[in-house]
Amino acid sequence: MIKFDKVTKAYGKIAALKDISIGIQKGEFLSVVGQSGAGKSTLIKLIIGEERPDSGRILIDDIDVAKIRSSDIPYLRRKIGVVFQDIKLLPSRTAFENVAFALEVSGEKESKIKTEVPKILELVGLSDKTDAFPNEMSGGEKQRVAIARALAHKPVLLLADEPTGNLDSINAWEIIQVLLKINSKGTTVVLATHAKDLVNSIKKRVVTIEKGQVVYDQEKGKYVL
Ligand SMILES: Nc1ncnc2c1ncn2[C@@H]1O[C@H](COP(=O)(O)OP(=O)(O)OP(=O)(O)O)[C@@H](O)[C@H]1O
Ligand SMILES: [Mg+2]
Repeated sequence: MIKFDKVTKAYGKIAALKDISIGIQKGEFLSVVGQSGAGKSTLIKLIIGEERPDSGRILIDDIDVAKIRSSDIPYLRRKIGVVFQDIKLLPSRTAFENVAFALEVSGEKESKIKTEVPKILELVGLSDKTDAFPNEMSGGEKQRVAIARALAHKPVLLLADEPTGNLDSINAWEIIQVLLKINSKGTTVVLATHAKDLVNSIKKRVVTIEKGQVVYDQEKGKYVL
C-alpha cells in the first residue's frame, strides 16, 4: 500500500532521512520508533505530501506522492487520516460538532452526518461525551475526538504522530487500544512514537529509525534502542 523506495530528505544541511526503503502492506499496524530527531515526523510528512523528498519515490496505492500536483493533495489527504500530538480541536464546538465539521467542509449531507458521527464516536469509546466541549474533556478524551475526526472520511490509512505524547500512561494505552481496534477493522495504521513501553506491548511490526536510517525492521518487534 505504501512503498518508500530509496527516499532521501534533507532540510538544508540536515539529513532527516537517508535512502529509506520500506513497504507497508494494506491492513498492517506499523510502529515507527526512534529517538528525537531520528526522522519519524519527516516520514509522516512525506506520506501526506507536506514535505517532498529530495530523491526516491513514495508510492501510495501506485500514486507517486513525490510527484503529485499540489492541487491533488486534498484528494490524497482524504484517503489518509492524521493525528498529531498537539490536539487542535475547535474549542467552541462539542465532540460531535468537531467530528461533524470535518464532514461539513467536504460537503456531506446533514442526514449522513447525523448517522455517521455517532458511529465514529462509538468506535473511539466516546458516546457518552458527544455533547461535551473540549474544555470538559480529559487529554485522552480530546485525543480520541481527534482520532474520530481523522476517521470521518473513512480513510484507508491512519497516521498517528506521537499521539500519546502529552498523555499519562493510562490515557496513552487507551489511545493505543483505539488505534488497534481501528486497525482490526481494516484500516492501515502507522504510529510514530518514542514511547518504548507502549510499542513493546503492541507486539506488531516495529521499524526503528536512527539518524534518518532504518536500523531495525521487525515483525512483532520490540523497541530496542
Ligand atoms: N522544517 C525543518 N527545518 C529544518 N530541520 C528540520 C525541519 N524539520 C525537521 N528537521 C530536522 O530533521 C531531523 C528529523 O526531524 P523529525 O521531526 O523528523 O524527527 P522526529 O523523529 O520526529 O523527532 P521527535 O521525536 O522529536 O518528534 C531533525 O534533525 C530535525 O531537527
Ligand atoms: Mg516528531
